[in-house]
Amino acid sequence: MADRAAIVTGASSGIGLAIAHVLGQEGYALTLAARRPEKLEAAAGELSAKGYDLQAVPANVSEEADIKRVVDAHRDRYGRLDVLVNNAGVGVGAPVAEIQTKRLDMQLDVNLRSIVLFYRESIAMLKHAAAEHSNVLVVNTSSISGKRGEAWLSVYSATKHAVVGWTEAMNKELGAEGIKSTALCPAFVDTPMTDFVKGHVKAEEMIRPEDIAEAVRYLLKVSPACVIPEMMFVRPGDAL
Ligand SMILES: NC(=O)c1ccc[n+]([C@@H]2O[C@H](COP(=O)([O-])OP(=O)(O)OC[C@H]3O[C@@H](n4cnc5c(N)ncnc54)[C@H](OP(=O)(O)O)[C@@H]3O)[C@@H](O)[C@H]2O)c1
Repeated sequence: MADRAAIVTGASSGIGLAIAHVLGQEGYALTLAARRPEKLEAAAGELSAKGYDLQAVPANVSEEADIKRVVDAHRDRYGRLDVLVNNAGVGVGAPVAEIQTKRLDMQLDVNLRSIVLFYRESIAMLKHAAAEHSNVLVVNTSSISGKRGEAWLSVYSATKHAVVGWTEAMNKELGAEGIKSTALCPAFVDTPMTDFVKGHVKAEEMIRPEDIAEAVRYLLKVSPACVIPEMMFVRPGDAL
């Protein structure tokens, strides 16, 4: 059994991959989940080369059975869960009249429903770890769009607001037991997700995935007495 272990979703790219690096550096054994197996294997190879103890479990987090499979694989391999990073997310922009039901459902499923199901499936392991050291961390990747609604990204904004609300509720329900939840709320981060906007906003003017990951390193280190329900990351000139 590992001393400390974590699950990271959306770990094959961008923010999730950067957080996985930090957790590996901090000594966590890792279960990495993401949708496309080849991309996930490439990321797992990059992390393995650093010497981290890890497994990669391809999974579509919009599928309940896949979520159960990820948590089961983690339990089987590591037997404990100290950090859960619910980071997988998708954004599809559309004006309200053109919102497609399939894309609406996909964003609800990936950005919100999967987080609820990951908590539910992981809660026994999280409580067990909290009983041991009172400092379990769950990180839910929201967005700055989870703090202010964005035109055209209305569905995405709504799901990310829901992530902030869910995180607050989890702190009220589980915080006193030593399970702390934080919603990360960044503005533009230089990842493949923001490729669509890089004609207008240069990549080097965006937040780096490593900046977000360093915030998670900080969250790991704060005392069990300190709950940080949300962290906002804005860029110079960003309107709030
Ligand atoms: N980049 C930004 O500016 C920004 C700002 C605020 C919040 N965020 C949030 O940050 C999180 C990570 O995004 P990112 O910017 O790092 O984007 P990214 O580089 O595109 O990474 C997204 C990750 O989520 C995975 N994923 C997507 N759909 C999935 C599904 N159905 N099942 C399992 N895994 C799935 C992807 O795997 P596949 O590639 O295999 O699908 C990938 O690993 C998201 O929740 C996003 O909403 C991003």
